[in-house]
Amino acid sequence: MEINSFVSGRTKVMGLVGNPVEHSISPFLHNTISSVTGIDAVYVAFKVEKESLCDAVKGLKALNVLGFNVTVPYKKEIMKYLDENSKEALLMGAVNTVKNIDGRLYGYNTDAEGFSRSFKEEAGTGFKGKSVFIIGAGGTSRAIAVKIAAEGAKRVCIANRTAEKAIDISDMINSNVNSVARGLGLYEEETKNVFRDCEIIINTTSAGMFPDIGGSPVDNTFEFSKGQIVYDVIYNPPKTRFLEEAEKNNCKTINGTGMLFYQAVYAYEIWTGLKLGDEFLAELYASFKNILLKK
Ligand code: ATR
Repeated sequence: MEINSFVSGRTKVMGLVGNPVEHSISPFLHNTISSVTGIDAVYVAFKVEKESLCDAVKGLKALNVLGFNVTVPYKKEIMKYLDENSKEALLMGAVNTVKNIDGRLYGYNTDAEGFSRSFKEEAGTGFKGKSVFIIGAGGTSRAIAVKIAAEGAKRVCIANRTAEKAIDISDMINSNVNSVARGLGLYEEETKNVFRDCEIIINTTSAGMFPDIGGSPVDNTFEFSKGQIVYDVIYNPPKTRFLEEAEKNNCKTINGTGMLFYQAVYAYEIWTGLKLGDEFLAELYASFKNILLKK
């Protein structure tokens, strides 16, 4: 019998807090990074019920974990249980990464940074001077919109079924980041013209996500323009109906796999202080994409 146990009395713990967590790919990603870099740590997923969130955070602190990720539905609620939240996380209204520093818990948001890196790598351009149209006005939209405005976009239009939520995000951005944002109702007539005219279109809603395959955040009265860069934060399925339509209209399409990957990479770097090399990341990303496709 060959025994190959790598967990010892010194092994540090990292984790994921959310509900549900069973299908998360994060344990695979983080444990792979640890095994390749030789960092003595394990990453486990904790399914936490809503009424136990405060106790779970206290427990993780008492157990002196290295840090943890936070996922749906707790990215906002977690903030009140932490000792401090980063300026960006406060603006974005969400934390997905918590680091334990000498018994104090610090909240960060790596979703937007992950989105930004994956966009730039796959689109070959950033947001400076660009007009951007964002569909949805939930937590993901807020984080992405703040990032894009901070990175110098010329125009950030946020369109949502419930217009008030989009206007709320645009007001916050105009007051705190850059005066470039505008909130719109998704089904206002003018919104379709804005959609057609923007250079970059981003879907942040869950419309079209498994099992809602075939769903789309917009109806067929919305027209893509040739050459637009269209990003869908959904990674399952890898090509949503929204991206299919965009592709038919000669747009460049990108799905959410890179965002998922890089938010994890940035979280790992925050916890360990490591800077993961580009070559290693490229190799890991290729394996990660294969595993996602088989899931
Ligand atoms: P997250 O935190 O992941 O962004 P959320 O806070 O639940 O998720 O936000 C989901 C967003 O997607 C909302 O803006 C929602 O619109 P409403 O505010 O009008 O509810 C939007 N959304 C969800 N399903 C949608 C659909 N089928 N078509 C258009 N927008 C949709």
